[in-house]
Amino acid sequence: MALMQWDEAMSVGVEELDAQHKTLIDLINQTFEAIERQDEGQLPRLVEKMAAYGQTHFATEERYMRDIGFPGLEEHRFHHAKFKSTVDDFRRSLESRADLSQIFIFLSRWLAAHIMDEDMRYAPHAREH
Ligand SMILES: [Fe+2]
Repeated sequence: MALMQWDEAMSVGVEELDAQHKTLIDLINQTFEAIERQDEGQLPRLVEKMAAYGQTHFATEERYMRDIGFPGLEEHRFHHAKFKSTVDDFRRSLESRADLSQIFIFLSRWLAAHIMDEDMRYAPHAREH
């Protein structure tokens, strides 16, 4: 079962960024499904992919916010750093075999809340552009 689902309410009004959010959600779902079926062989590869894609996405989004002169960029950067550190926690728990589902559910909730609360702050600026 998919852990997260993208829907119209998550649209920030920028096609490229919406597409990246969908890909990130898809990677989170794939990783969660691997945890659920205890497919540990797949996990390191998926986590690396998710971390790398997260970096790509945050860089694109931060560049976009700078281009449109969004005033909340610095604060937003701080929120992105939180995702990176949660992924690092997850990497560590992969090694120590801690409760993977819990930390992963946290990560997915973080992303959903981030899109709905933080990314939505630049959405009105995006519409003006
Ligand atoms: Fe963001």
